[in-house]
Amino acid sequence: MAADEWWRDAVVYQVYPRSFADSDGDGIGDLRGVVDRLDHVERLGADAIWLSPFYPSPQVDFGYDISDYESVDPEYGTLDDFDDLVAEAGRRGLRIVVDLVMNHTSDEHAWFVESRSDRSNPKRDWYIWADPRPGGGPPNNWLSSFEKCGAAWTFDDRTGQYYLHSFTAGQPDLNWRNPDVRAAMGKVWRFWLDRGVAGFRIDVAHRLMKDPDLRDNPPEVAHARRHFSHPVVRQRNLDLPETHDVLRELREVLDGYGDRFALGEVPISDDARLAEYFGGDGMQTAFHIAFWEQPWDASAFRACVDGLAGRMRPGSLPTYALATHDISRTVSRYGAARAGVAAMMMLTLRGVACVYYGEEIGMSDAPPDEARDVDGRDGQRTPMQWDDTGGFTTGEPWLPMAPGHGEVNVGRQLDDPDSLLSLYRRVIAYRRGSEDLRRGGYRSLDTPPGVFAYLRGENLLVALNFTGRPASFTVPGHTEGRVELSTRTDRTGVVPLRLEPDEGLVLRLGPVR
Ligand code: GLC
Repeated sequence: MAADEWWRDAVVYQVYPRSFADSDGDGIGDLRGVVDRLDHVERLGADAIWLSPFYPSPQVDFGYDISDYESVDPEYGTLDDFDDLVAEAGRRGLRIVVDLVMNHTSDEHAWFVESRSDRSNPKRDWYIWADPRPGGGPPNNWLSSFEKCGAAWTFDDRTGQYYLHSFTAGQPDLNWRNPDVRAAMGKVWRFWLDRGVAGFRIDVAHRLMKDPDLRDNPPEVAHARRHFSHPVVRQRNLDLPETHDVLRELREVLDGYGDRFALGEVPISDDARLAEYFGGDGMQTAFHIAFWEQPWDASAFRACVDGLAGRMRPGSLPTYALATHDISRTVSRYGAARAGVAAMMMLTLRGVACVYYGEEIGMSDAPPDEARDVDGRDGQRTPMQWDDTGGFTTGEPWLPMAPGHGEVNVGRQLDDPDSLLSLYRRVIAYRRGSEDLRRGGYRSLDTPPGVFAYLRGENLLVALNFTGRPASFTVPGHTEGRVELSTRTDRTGVVPLRLEPDEGLVLRLGPVR
């Protein structure tokens, strides 16, 4: 393994720039705000920050509709601010990972403006245009990923054709079969790599290629949206084999820069298909999508982790996250009492760990009365809770602060050893210093229902109690272990193999007896 593969044991902190910290009082977070709050990320112990999109955008999908790939939206600052962020983060040993949205642009991107201007425009073929199907209507039965958007096609009056959009009509899909598109996007990759980013989070990496003949999806999967999971029937608008060619091109560029990496968002719940996207000559890693969809059930998590582990290419690593800007928060899904166990699991499994801002203090979803997002994701995007008064902005926040921010905030938790934030810091610091967690193997153990336990390396045992009752378990050859970490602060020394309610425990096992 090359020494510079720093990302293999990284803890990545996801910043949603709009909601993290507002430096100029307009109620919208910005890049200066992130610079001002780097202390927090450094104290947490993260290795890198993944920044959700901050590029110029009409904000139809809050930045995932990019109208210029090589700039910063004035709402968020300037390219100079970005450079300062990279430099200031770098001084603290933090790397910056940016979000690469290459499946689609905004309909306000200059490429699309040209493309839609005339059928004979040289950029016409940069996007996917098609005639109505005979008798009228969209060219095929493909649907947008967003329930509210219906068909994945919008008719353009001026040129009399439909264009494809896998998300909103404001996000036309690029035609990745066109070599000019590939060249233009290659330039974008280099633009950010040259600016010093440590890598990319690749938005919907599995969607880049579509059936060249635009055939209907088979009826069995016509309504499958975000998550492809049909074992046999393939969709024609995502997960096409040719997609891997593009990702290999990206990989070659990254390799040319040495120690950069790509983290794929590949919303495919079929383990074998997901595994094809990372490791080898693909992206270095990808989110384990099913992980954040599990019910609070020890055996479900075990099956989920082991399922993908058993399919991955040798030496590959998945990325674990509990929540993202798309996924409801841990506390809202599982309850506050379980947030510690969930965090310990995510940070001790074998893979990259990704912490969505606010998860480290146990923020909950708080959907506003009036929806801003087309797909119901406002709840998990509320402003970061810095202190009793909010601390996010001096103005009116673009999304209301979550109720309860006066109690759940960084200020209150920082010096409280029993807080969730302190637990995150303890586990991350331990992970940094533990060869077993950083590079050791993973093997799950047979345990009673309600307990998920696994070995990292030879003898580091992680045991997680998913129940609100004490739970005993066994490990062949052992009756006890030395406490290395616990979600509780009153556990030290050598203890029997027994968990307190809702406890996560890391034990060093002695020699087998
Ligand atoms: C990804 C992003 C999501 C966005 C979509 C379209 O799933 O995480 O926020 O809406 O892609 O770009």
